[in-house]
Amino acid sequence: MSDTVDTIKDRLSIVDVVGAYVELKKAGVNYKGRCPFHNEKTPSFFVSPDRGTFHCFGCGKGGDIFSFTEEIEGLDFKGALKVLAERAGVPLVVEHPEKKERRDRIYELLEDATLHYQHHLVDTADARAYLFKRGVLPETLKTFRIGFALSSWEEMTTFLRAKGYTDQEIESSGLAKYGEDRTRGIYDRFRSRIMFPIADGAGRIVGFSGRMFGDADPDAAKYINSPETEVYKKSQVLFGFDKAKRAMRAEDTAILVEGQMDLVLSHQAGLLHTVALSGTALSSEHVTMLARLTPTLILSLDGDTAGISAAERSARIALSAGMSVRMACPPDGKDPADMILADTDAWKKTVAEAPHIVEKFMTLLSVGGGDLRSFRTEVSRRVIPLVALIPNAVERDHFAELVADRLGVSVDAVREEMSKAHAPIVEDISAMHAIVPRVPDNETTRRFRERRLAGLLYWQEKKADAIIDVSELIARIRETIGEGGVLFLDEYGQELKDTLAFEAEYDAEIRHADPVREVEHQFSLWKRELLRERAHRLKELIRMRQSAGEDTTDISGEHVSLIRALSLLDEHIASG
Ligand code: UTP
Ligand code: MN
Repeated sequence: MSDTVDTIKDRLSIVDVVGAYVELKKAGVNYKGRCPFHNEKTPSFFVSPDRGTFHCFGCGKGGDIFSFTEEIEGLDFKGALKVLAERAGVPLVVEHPEKKERRDRIYELLEDATLHYQHHLVDTADARAYLFKRGVLPETLKTFRIGFALSSWEEMTTFLRAKGYTDQEIESSGLAKYGEDRTRGIYDRFRSRIMFPIADGAGRIVGFSGRMFGDADPDAAKYINSPETEVYKKSQVLFGFDKAKRAMRAEDTAILVEGQMDLVLSHQAGLLHTVALSGTALSSEHVTMLARLTPTLILSLDGDTAGISAAERSARIALSAGMSVRMACPPDGKDPADMILADTDAWKKTVAEAPHIVEKFMTLLSVGGGDLRSFRTEVSRRVIPLVALIPNAVERDHFAELVADRLGVSVDAVREEMSKAHAPIVEDISAMHAIVPRVPDNETTRRFRERRLAGLLYWQEKKADAIIDVSELIARIRETIGEGGVLFLDEYGQELKDTLAFEAEYDAEIRHADPVREVEHQFSLWKRELLRERAHRLKELIRMRQSAGEDTTDISGEHVSLIRALSLLDEHIASG
């Protein structure tokens, strides 16, 4: 695997990969552009062809072609690997070739089926008329590849067999199934239905959702969905996700709706950052997919009781993942599709003004019409647990105060209720920092110096025309730290190394400092902090031993020579 990664890195230049999304201009040895990950007017996003990495001085994001692709396309590492391998023309042999071949056949089959359903819709005027009446425009039928399944038990199966697919393949695609009596073979799952193809993040069709239309069995469900298959994992697929990725990042928000029609009409109305559940419950995997692209989720589920409890469930998952969750709820029993058809601008306004879920629930419960006591009980039962899930302490506190204020009780009372609610799923990182003892100032300074020095080192290390002898410098650092000391360089991860290199390089460029002198200067500054720290510790030890009446001549001598070395170093630094 890591061979593949290296081959891909060799073949693709970071400048080309990033350049496909960001306008880059040459800036010294690097390239510079406006960061695609946060809003900025002046470019602070740098790409280093030497190191094959990028770094933004504005938002701090950085990494290589893989992390860039993950971030910008909303993919996980495997997804990014696939995209880049394809671009680089590097074959990926990650799984059993037979299994892969079978999966590829299913993707092909579903693609053929999609085209076939699309042809049928062209011939089915009343289904098209129905969709137009619901507000769907002709070009939207194309964009979403909407189709029609004829009123037949074997039309699709026959078509697919004629295309050369085996019954086993047709069945595993989810388009046909066996009846009670297996010997009678497979039959079409979707009959007389308007067909919405469902794609994965890469845009490949993995399943369908079919809405009843015409002479479908009136007792059948309004929507029938493909079952889980080898290629359709419902907890990992959101309807419209492939088309919404860019917009979710650009708008820095994701809107979640329930149904196919809600989604199709939202996109048509220009709310391209919308995705739909389409018959599944929101999973933590869905939330991870969304959170990679944006920290904000607007729940726009139906305004009926089922929709509101789905919102509550979804909010729990998204809040505990650290997302900020807002709610744009259509009034009484309506859904976004109805709202858009009635008044697109009004719906857009509702979405833009969507309040935080905690705020929205407080309002929903207070207009419920009950007395104050039942209002308080409901809030304890339904809202306070949501507040308790917010991982960020500052934000959590803010909403605890809001709830206390609306209830007319003290914040302490709300906090007590919160502690009874189940513990936050995500550990509270900011609270953890609070209990870690503060490091002495001197140590902080030393660490800062170390990083400056390390940055110079990493920058020079990967530079084509390096002028610093990196191994000599490392040897000198090691010698200064002494036997048994920990080389701070070993503690840095790749990402930090890269950030430090960018900082050093940037610094050198704007200050036009000579790298050789800069290294020497930073080395001295770092060494001074190290010696100061040692002198300080020795002094403490001397004081302790003296107060215990012990002899300290041995370490006192050491202390004196440390102080002497320090003053020499001070002079050296001052002279410049
Ligand atoms: P709704 O019942 O709200 O349907 O279900 P809808 O989207 O308003 O239907 P239209 O607008 O009349 O076409 C919301 C979503 O729940 C799933 C579907 O994804 C649907 O869009 N669902 C609903 C099912 O999977 N099965 C069903 O039987 C009903
Ligand atoms: Mn609906």
